[in-house]
Amino acid sequence: MKSAEIRQKFLDFFASKGHQVVSSSSLVPGDDPTLLFTNAGMNQFKDVFLGLDKRSYTRAATSQKCVRAGGKHNDLENVGYTARHHTFFEMLGNFSFGDYFKRDAIAYAWEFLTSPQWLNLPKEKLWVTVYATDDEAYDIWHKEVGIPAERMVRIGDNKGAPYASDNFWTMGDTGPCGPCTEIFYDHGADIWGGPPGSAEEDGDRYIEIWNNVFMQFNRDESGTLHPLPKPSVDTGMGLERISAVLQHVHSNYEIDLFQSLIDAAQRATGAADRNSPSLNVIADHIRACSFLVADGVMPSNDGRGYVLRRIIRRAIRHGYKLGQKGLFFHKLVPTLVEVMGDAYPELKAEQERIAAALKLEEEQFAKTLENGMGLLESALADGSKTLAGEVAFKLYDTFGFPVDLTNDICREREVVVDMAGFEREMEKQREQSRESNVFKMAGRVSYEGSDTCFEGYLKSSVDAKVLALYKQGEPVEQLSVGDEGIVVLDNTPFYAEGGGQVGDVGEISATGGLDALFDVADTQKVKATVFGHHGRLTRGALKVGEAVQATIDLHKRLATARNHSATHLLHAALREVLGKHVAQKGSLVNHERTRFDFAHTQAVTPAEIAKIEAVVNHVVAANYDVTASLMSYDDAIRTGAMALFGEKYGDEVRVLKMGNFSTELCGGTHVHRTGDIGFFKIVAEGGVAAGVRRIEAVTGEGALAYVQAQESQIKEAAALLKAQPAELLGKIGQIQESVKSLEKELAKLKGKLASSQGDELVAQAKDIQGLKVLAANIEGADNNTLREMMDKLKDKLGSAAIVLSTVNDGKVALVAGVTADATSKVKAGELVNFVAQQVGGKGGGRPDMAQAGGTQPSGLPAALAGVADWIAGKL
Ligand code: ALA
Repeated sequence: MKSAEIRQKFLDFFASKGHQVVSSSSLVPGDDPTLLFTNAGMNQFKDVFLGLDKRSYTRAATSQKCVRAGGKHNDLENVGYTARHHTFFEMLGNFSFGDYFKRDAIAYAWEFLTSPQWLNLPKEKLWVTVYATDDEAYDIWHKEVGIPAERMVRIGDNKGAPYASDNFWTMGDTGPCGPCTEIFYDHGADIWGGPPGSAEEDGDRYIEIWNNVFMQFNRDESGTLHPLPKPSVDTGMGLERISAVLQHVHSNYEIDLFQSLIDAAQRATGAADRNSPSLNVIADHIRACSFLVADGVMPSNDGRGYVLRRIIRRAIRHGYKLGQKGLFFHKLVPTLVEVMGDAYPELKAEQERIAAALKLEEEQFAKTLENGMGLLESALADGSKTLAGEVAFKLYDTFGFPVDLTNDICREREVVVDMAGFEREMEKQREQSRESNVFKMAGRVSYEGSDTCFEGYLKSSVDAKVLALYKQGEPVEQLSVGDEGIVVLDNTPFYAEGGGQVGDVGEISATGGLDALFDVADTQKVKATVFGHHGRLTRGALKVGEAVQATIDLHKRLATARNHSATHLLHAALREVLGKHVAQKGSLVNHERTRFDFAHTQAVTPAEIAKIEAVVNHVVAANYDVTASLMSYDDAIRTGAMALFGEKYGDEVRVLKMGNFSTELCGGTHVHRTGDIGFFKIVAEGGVAAGVRRIEAVTGEGALAYVQAQESQIKEAAALLKAQPAELLGKIGQIQESVKSLEKELAKLKGKLASSQGDELVAQAKDIQGLKVLAANIEGADNNTLREMMDKLKDKLGSAAIVLSTVNDGKVALVAGVTADATSKVKAGELVNFVAQQVGGKGGGRPDMAQAGGTQPSGLPAALAGVADWIAGKL
């Protein structure tokens, strides 16, 4: 039975049992900072299990794209070496949200697997495990379904902590969880392995095919389990595993879905052995990587992008192992689209972008390898048989060389890597980063009082009370003149850094008896709802409890607001001009400029930049209203607001809308109307990581200053050329022309000079048994001149053997010529090499004319002087 048929049967079966068939969600979990990638069918229903979200149905079935690489469920290192692990796989699942529970879940699973109408698996091949204390599930299987006790196993907490068990499933460190019952298939005695719970359970004989989780709890950060509102069911069956069973093969890699991929991998790598595990790795990884890129993940140096990068690099490394050193990985994309594009149309739609992103990453890694190999070669140049741990670490840290790659390369050369030294360096770095974290923590002070009310959306100056003061990170009652510290207020107009926007600057002055003035240099959150004003007391003394007036630097704030609003417009314009794949990867907005990083594989062309500027300035001129409204996260997403992956949002979010052009979730401070931005100008575009571009732009006064600076540079340049700015291009053209003609003239003069030297040279030629022999160095000549002189000298000397040399930038150029009547005795090639080998070079050519180069000019005089004797020896 083909995989596609199994997928369809599963969905049909559960539809016939009243389940709503729901499509797979993205591999990037929507609003869940606890998850790196979608790792199970239940992810998209997490909030439904928790009772936070409701659907119109209480039973659902899906075929879900999953990635298990990085995060709690991580199979990356196993892939390729077992018959059943993948980074990407499809999970078939049925779900009950407070509807049916253990009895029906078990009955459905059994019917689907064993009924002749459905999968018709032989019952005696199936084993079952239950959580050690789950007598209810045990009895349903044993007494109602009729599984004999010999094929049932109870599994307890076998992973070193309460509820840490193969039969207690948790989504992550927190979230919905519960005991589970798993169904295993026995692939037969000819495969090594033992039943679940036995010492040989890791073999490939008994394979778990279906997990039925009885969702009953929500696990919090402290590990405590809280009962869910309603007991529910979450199941998962790997499509690849069940396909292997039904296709009578013992490894997932032998199923239909993988065959053409492995063929394609073999073609692309030129691998000789089709059974190499490396081909499985590559076939697995092309699926994960392509699906991730299709869902908007791009290779980068952190988070999801970094995991993607590691998977791509692992695939490339296995290509290397198979002998393929060129680009190959992206070439598998068309085959993948053929195999899976019907079930997952996003692959077809994004095919070109996926191939381009993978190719770019391959090219970058090739460069990484090249640079790293340079370091590795020089470290091994002295022939030592051990590679120092520091070098291995530097390769890893600076060049992105995975240490197993270093090990692989060294193994090939019988060099041992000092792994203990490597670990020491690694630990040193961890130590340093721990220290720098501690340092950062010092800026975060401990505070237990009431919250700060932020009034800065509407006001630039407010009356407030000092709630707390800190000096050197410690709470104090008072700050004196000159003290640096942090002030916490009950009200403030100061925006605390967040969402890419820098914190406000300004001043806090006492309005009571003490004449205090505190210069605020930055504003940072002490915690989510408490703002810390960082700065220095420049006058008087400031005390806790005192009444103050807090006033921001409005000029800077307005400039920052213009840049922040322009960032939203830029984001929307980028999506309009470059495509919907553009996703924000980071931003930094201050009063001077905005810096915006986004996912895009190629450099943005000047024409595209001009278009983006035009789109943004058009919206600026349209002078749309900028409005902010508070609403629930789901309502916000329904209105089409752009939320950032990985950003944590509260229950209530602020939706910032600029006309109908841009809608984003944002807590920042903005202009009132788009016209306030004035003028928007992009000043820089470049790449920051593979697949991530950065644009910097300025607005308002900043844009004016930028344009003025450019203009004055143009004016200065024009003045230097004694032209008007408008004539500049014509003038530069003229200058280039005249440089060209001067160069030509110079070349001619050099030629003339050389031929006048020619006459002197004729006189220097020695007569050796009727043959004129000449060996001379010509200063200031180039190759062309040497050849021209050679022709003339041959004409003038009649029967001759000649070597001419010249030295430029420490390099020797040589030309040798022998007239036709003498080539039977002296060959020009031999003559030129006689000299060349004495100046560290080599050359060749015809018997009458040959050329060579050399790198050691110091040997030249002696070499030339020896020519006459050498020729005499030949005659
Ligand atoms: N969520 C369960 C699993 O992934 C079914 O195994």
